Amino acid sequence: MLVTDQDTTAPPTNITLVSAKGFPTWREAQSNLAQAWLARSDFQGKKGQSVWLPNTEGEPDWVAAGCGEAPGIATLATLPFRLAAGTYRLDANLSPAERHQVLLGWGLGAYRFDRYKGDAGREPAHLLTGPADAPARDECEAVALCRNLINTPANDMLPHHLEAAARELATAHDAAIEVTVGDTLLERGFRAIHAVGRASASAPRLIDLRWGSPEAPRVTLVGKGVCFDSGGLDLKTAAGMRLMKKDMGGAAHVLGLAKLIMARRLPVALRVLVPAVENAVAANAFRPGDVLTAYDGTTIEVDNTDAEGRLILCDALALAQEESPDIIIDFATLTGAARVALGTALPAMFATHTDIANAIAAAGEQWEDPVWRMPLHAPYRSLLDSDIADIANAPSSGLGGAITAGLFLQRFVGDAPWVHFDVMAWNERAQPARPKGGEAMGLRAVHAALAERYGAGTG
Ligand code: BES
Ligand code: ZN
Ligand code: ZN
Repeated sequence: MLVTDQDTTAPPTNITLVSAKGFPTWREAQSNLAQAWLARSDFQGKKGQSVWLPNTEGEPDWVAAGCGEAPGIATLATLPFRLAAGTYRLDANLSPAERHQVLLGWGLGAYRFDRYKGDAGREPAHLLTGPADAPARDECEAVALCRNLINTPANDMLPHHLEAAARELATAHDAAIEVTVGDTLLERGFRAIHAVGRASASAPRLIDLRWGSPEAPRVTLVGKGVCFDSGGLDLKTAAGMRLMKKDMGGAAHVLGLAKLIMARRLPVALRVLVPAVENAVAANAFRPGDVLTAYDGTTIEVDNTDAEGRLILCDALALAQEESPDIIIDFATLTGAARVALGTALPAMFATHTDIANAIAAAGEQWEDPVWRMPLHAPYRSLLDSDIADIANAPSSGLGGAITAGLFLQRFVGDAPWVHFDVMAWNERAQPARPKGGEAMGLRAVHAALAERYGAGTG
């Protein structure tokens, strides 16, 4: 965890950084005693390495951590659980951007989801940070919110729980929140959200959060909030269903991103739309072949009830574009096809405007939160042709499935500048700063790009 003076009184242990290249010179500069300790360890300044070093009395006193070629998110990421519990402080000459990444790595590496563990295990070690480090702390908290929401199983993260989480966030930041629940969705024209979510014991709903000055540039975030995706009547296999508590990962991303935007007080008029549903099976479930009329009047033939994400998103996107925002950004665990294309760790980004896509991709590169742009290839639109309605929800060819899903959504955003992320929201294996389980992917990249675009410091 990243802590401040207020959280701790214990004198911190210093951690210094040593690069692989600088290691021989650095070693020469140490006391004879420290050199003797180093001779008995394999420490060479490589990324992920660390070693305790003595004071003049020969007691363990400080820590050297390797940063390989350059300091970054991985540098300290494994230390919170490798060093003894206690408080540490980073004593290194870094640029502000490097320091940000190194602290962030500690904070992200200290995360653990222990809500259901009787024995939560040992405390992570704490890293003492200062007032200037608030951006890194805020980013860690935003990512932790996103991870917690995803990791929480569906029995504790149904649509009404997701609403409660959004309300808690709104209260913490003085944001306005309006939630349309159950049959009221029909009255307001959100028939697709209702159709997908009506078979659940937890009523479908549309969460609408607003924050910031209405005069500021309008940034609207939309997140897929499928709290559990059984596939509906086109039921998934056991293996395909196993991880589907994470199908509200898009909602988790936009709530985490909103938390970060509000904590950093980005000068934007923020709106967050989360259609929250469970794609369940019951007598009143929507069926393959049903025709739904979306919020904007588009008729959609349901080819496959497992392509439910785009159905709830299209109502929310159509609502979002009504007030002509400066930008609409959506996050969704939308297709298996995006994972076939890019693997699990790289989110697929689709964008109507190349300058925005480039800014986000560059920010992702800089802040170690990579995204990869894919094309909204217009000729594939006809793969979504329906015999009886304006459009079908699933394509006639399974190939290019992330693109056809993107093209489906694009139909509903009108002329608004729009960016769509098809994310895994889950680490299948643990990597430094990226623990196994729910994960924010592209959240920090988008925040950095927005901060640059709308004129606040990056964080
Ligand atoms: N939630 C899934 C997509 C998904 C599956 C994301 C696995 C990440 C990992 C989505 O609702 C879905 O089932 N999509 C179908 C669409 C198809 C029926 C057109 C898919 O990708 O197979
Ligand atoms: Zn599905
Ligand atoms: Zn889904």
